[in-house]
Amino acid sequence: MAALGEQSEEQAMAAQPKPQNRRPISNIVIVVAMQTEALPIVNRFQLTEDPHSPFPRGVPWVRYQGTYKDLNISLVWPGKDPTLGVDSVGTISSALVTYAAIQALQPDLIINAGTAGGFKAKGASIGDVFIVSDCAFHDRRIPIPVFDLYGVGVRKTFEAPNLVKELNLKVGKLSTGDSLDMTQQDESSIIANDATVKDMEGAAIVYVSDLLKVPAMFVKAVTDIIDGDKPTAEEFLQNLAAVTAALDLAVEQVINFINGKCVSEL
Ligand code: ADE
Repeated sequence: MAALGEQSEEQAMAAQPKPQNRRPISNIVIVVAMQTEALPIVNRFQLTEDPHSPFPRGVPWVRYQGTYKDLNISLVWPGKDPTLGVDSVGTISSALVTYAAIQALQPDLIINAGTAGGFKAKGASIGDVFIVSDCAFHDRRIPIPVFDLYGVGVRKTFEAPNLVKELNLKVGKLSTGDSLDMTQQDESSIIANDATVKDMEGAAIVYVSDLLKVPAMFVKAVTDIIDGDKPTAEEFLQNLAAVTAALDLAVEQVINFINGKCVSEL
C-alpha cells in the first residue's frame, strides 16, 4: 500500500491520460437545442444534413456533418416537435439525442453550444459567452436524504483549462431546468447551485456524457438577464439572433483551438 502522501500505482495510472485522450481529437459532436442557434454554426463549418441519418426512423432529430481542418464535426439538433412544430428544447430531448449521437458516432468530445439566461449579480451581461465548469438541476426537488443530492445532480464538466486561458473566456456554473421562467423555489435552488448561467439542457447532457464516459464542454451565450427587470421571454426573443452570432464566433474559436490537440491538451 502507498504511504500517506504517496500515490498508489492505481492512482498514478488513473492520473495518466487515457489512450484515447493522448491522440489528437478527430471526432466532435456539437449538441444544439434550437434551430436558430444551430444554423449559424452549420453555415460557418459548411456542414450538410446527413442523408443517412444515424437516428431511429421517424424521430425529428437531425445530424449535420462535415470536415473542418483535421476534424469530423457533427452537429446534432433534436429537431421540431412533431405535433407543435417548435424546437424540442429541454432536458428530455437533449439527453436522448446526446445518447443516440454518442452510440452512433463515438465522438472524442461533446460540445453543447446554446443560449442561456445570466445573472448580473454573478457578472453576466447580454452577449457574454461562458465556458461552464459545473452543471446542476434546479427543478428536481426530492426532500429525502441522498435523493435530494441525486435530484440536484451536480457534475463537473470537461473544463478545458488551456482553452479557457488562451481564448480568455469567462467561466461559470450552470443550472438547468425545464422552464424558461423561474419560480421562487427555482431561484433558491439556482442560488444554492452558485450558478452564473441558467439553461434548459446542460445538466441533462453532462449526465449522459458522464454515463458514457465522453468528455463534454459547454459554451453558453447570454440572451437575457434573470435578475434584471425585463420579462425573460421578451428579452430572450429580442436578443436571440444577435447573441447566436456571438455564440457562433465563440464556437469557431473553440474548434480552432481544439484542432490538432488531444483531450489532455485542452
Ligand atoms: N435560454 C436562454 N435564456 C434562458 C433562461 N432564462 N432560462 C433557461 N434557458 C434559457
